[in-house]
Amino acid sequence: MTPVLAVKNLVKIYRTAGAPVPAVRGVDLEVEQGEFVAVMGPSGSGKSTLVHVMAGLDSRTDGEIWLAGERVDTLGEAAWAVKRRKHIGFVFQFFNLVANMTVADNVELPALLAGQSARQARERRDYLLGELGLTAQADSPPGRLSGGEQQRVALARALANQPTLLLADEPTGNLDSGNTRDVLRLLKAVHGNGQSIVLVTHDARVATMADRVLTLCDGQITDDGRIKGRGGGVSDVVRLRG
Ligand SMILES: Nc1ncnc2c1ncn2[C@@H]1O[C@H](COP(=O)(O)OP(=O)(O)OP(=O)(O)O)[C@@H](O)[C@H]1O
Ligand SMILES: [Mg+2]
Repeated sequence: MTPVLAVKNLVKIYRTAGAPVPAVRGVDLEVEQGEFVAVMGPSGSGKSTLVHVMAGLDSRTDGEIWLAGERVDTLGEAAWAVKRRKHIGFVFQFFNLVANMTVADNVELPALLAGQSARQARERRDYLLGELGLTAQADSPPGRLSGGEQQRVALARALANQPTLLLADEPTGNLDSGNTRDVLRLLKAVHGNGQSIVLVTHDARVATMADRVLTLCDGQITDDGRIKGRGGGVSDVVRLRG
């Protein structure tokens, strides 16, 4: 089957005022449909850079990026953005919510941009906010929420248009155990629904939910372990409504 996402010899070198920083140094990776991949590795190993570049949110220095069987790194920015909206949901490590919009509007926006009807977008938003315990915050601006609440809003937003691929950068990084459970329950439902997930995490307990755990060190994959008996059928599938 065509991988949802494939990268070949992906390289990202940040060129700033000082010496160039090689953050991703030749990564090859294929993510299959329905696969749940955890990315671990020390701080500064290039995890955020890798997921940003794979999503086209930052430019690559070299290599190829394929989304649902189509090469995207050679597309213009606008064409790539259309593909991204259709296929990818992204949870940023530092949320990136729109400050002057309500929580509800932040979550609804991607679904509207992807062409869903206002009613569909609203229903999906209400479902996601409910699942993540955020209904009471729907009409607040994100700035009035705690870090953990904002992180859950960021996850709801990423799931709004039911992406084939969820790229999530530390989505449980600021959460207490109760909220981590809510997020993991939703991720399990997303996985059970056949969507693919690439999840950056420092938390080994979170990584145990994945089918496959990649370790990144100095911008390279140093370990790629599939967890035995996983992949494909998840026994306790939770159906995503709506
Ligand atoms: N915008 C940037 N400009 C220059 N260097 C950068 C930039 N962003 C990241 N880096 C550098 O690239 C390397 C990889 O950073 P990255 O944020 O991808 O690591 P990470 O694995 O996500 O770390 P963490 O676990 O702390 O989130 C680091 O050396 C970092 O300092
Ligand atoms: Mg990071």
